[in-house]
Parts: sequence; C-alpha cells; structure tokens
Amino acid sequence: EIASRRHCEFISATVKKALLDAGKTIDDVDAVAVTFAPGLIGALLVGVNFAKGLALSLDKPLIPVHHIRGHIAANYLAHPELEPPYLCLVASGSHSHIVKVNDWTEFETIGQTVDDAAGEAFDKAARAMGYPYPGGVHIDKAAQTGDRKKYQLPHPHTANPYDFSFSGLKTAVINLIHNARQKGEEIDRASLAASFTKAVSDSLVPRAMQAAKELGHDKIVVAGGVAANSRIRADFKAAAEKNGLKLYIPPLKLCGDNGAMVGAQAYYEYLAGVRAGSDLNAYATMEL
Ligand code: KG4
Ligand code: ZN
Repeated sequence: EIASRRHCEFISATVKKALLDAGKTIDDVDAVAVTFAPGLIGALLVGVNFAKGLALSLDKPLIPVHHIRGHIAANYLAHPELEPPYLCLVASGSHSHIVKVNDWTEFETIGQTVDDAAGEAFDKAARAMGYPYPGGVHIDKAAQTGDRKKYQLPHPHTANPYDFSFSGLKTAVINLIHNARQKGEEIDRASLAASFTKAVSDSLVPRAMQAAKELGHDKIVVAGGVAANSRIRADFKAAAEKNGLKLYIPPLKLCGDNGAMVGAQAYYEYLAGVRAGSDLNAYATMEL
C-alpha cells in the first residue's frame, strides 16, 4: 500500500524528468511501454493505468512488458551485438530462473527456485546479520574483506539439476548467528558474508554453465539485481572462460530495476506486433 501510494506521488514527475534528462519531449515518443507483470499488484496498477492514460492521450501504441523480460533485455542496451538464441540466468529479489531465450520474444524456463529467490536469500541473510534492507549490496561490500572458506554453509541439491533452493542457506545463516549469540561468541561478519556469497555463487554459476553446455549454447547471459554482485560476476567470468562460453552481464546501473530495460524489451515486443488496449490489466504473477 505504501509502495503504491509512493508510485502515485512520483510517476508524473518521474516521466517528466526522464524526458528532460533525455533531451526529448513527449512528441518524440513513438510508443508507451509499461511493466504489467509480475510484481506488487498495487504498484503495477499505478504504472499500467498511468501508461494507458498517456498512450490514449498521445494516440500512441501501448506495449505491455514482462518485468523479467525487461531484466534480460538490459543486456541489449549494454551489448548491442547480443542476439538470441542464448542461455540466461535471471537472479533478482523475486526470481531465480534459468531461461532459454530462443528469440527476442520467445522464452522457455528450464529451471527456477523451488523456494526463495537468490536476492531474497541475500536480503534475509543480510537482515540476520544486521544490515539494512535491501541487504545484497551490504553483503557484497562486507564480503570483500572476508574469508569465503571460514563458514561451512549448505549447498542444497534439487531434483531438477537446473532448479535452485536457497531457503536452507538462509536458515543456516540465521542458526549460525543464533548459536554464536547463545555461546557469547563474536561472528566474523565479513567472513560470513563471503561464505554466504560463495554458497549462492556455487549454486548459480555451475547450474547455468551446465545448462548452457548441455543445451548447446555458446553464449551465456546474466541479468537481475543479483548480477550486480562483484563475486558472482567474477565467478561467472572465470567459469565462462574455462568453458569457452561468451559471457554477457549488464553494467551495475542496468542490473537492478530500471525503466530503460523495460523500454529495451518493449522495442522487440513492438516489432513482434504486441499491443495492448485500454483493457490491459496488471498481474502479480505471470510465466515468462
Ligand atoms: O532485480 P532487482 O533490482 O529487483 C527485483 O526485481 O527483485 O533485484 C533486487 C535484488 C535484491 O534482493 C537485492 O538485495 C539484490 O537484488 N542485489 C544484490 C546486489 N545488488 C542488489 N545482491 C547481491 N549483491 C549485490 N551487489
Ligand atoms: Zn527486477
């Protein structure tokens, strides 16, 4: 509810500022793109209804964009030479997906988390460690000076080799902190941050590499807020080099949620003929 109200307060000013920063006017706009799924329904509805009004008043096409497709498309802004098909790992606050991107608007999810998303695990572990929300970036910073082998954390297996599970890892961190506190022992936060990041990376990187190799892809793409993690980026780089795969990751500013990525995917949806009318709805969940 709070997020939705803030969206209402800021959406007009945000659109105005985006145009101003780009040195454009509303007349330069060819189409209006909007995230319609998945996410917090109240916030999505604000965007969808604003976009509908804008498209109608400008008499321009309205293009609905899936949020995760947007994350993937951030890579087209950073790497204009990138073209489907490729294999993509998307890791955000609510998604951990391995996706076959067959074409610009054709996706096949071949693995996903069976419980928490990778970013969610970062945020929950960070909270237990006393960092503010969202905690992923704080764990990233703390881990720089830590020993990633100091704490043994679980590396869960999943029935589908491309699926993920992160809730056991989060629980292990919480228990470790709780037990240390009961014994009056100090936790080495930097090393716990580094060990936790290693456990997440050990789950994400080999699964994505294995999927790329088994499905015959020579390009691997990483997307979503967790792709901003310095250790995970470095591990992907090393693994891609070792396996002879070409690696694409957006720069930090395009990893987390942003409007540019939604515009990038909208371009391809537009070319594919995707249009929405004034009956467009928002959806909290939706398949890729
Ligand atoms: O993609 P995103 O901006 O929003 C969602 O669609 O969820 O991802 C946000 C998630 C949060 O869980 C945040 O803690 C995590 O990405 N994140 C990071 C880092 N920066 C953001 N996790 C680990 N290391 C980072 N540097
Ligand atoms: Zn996101």
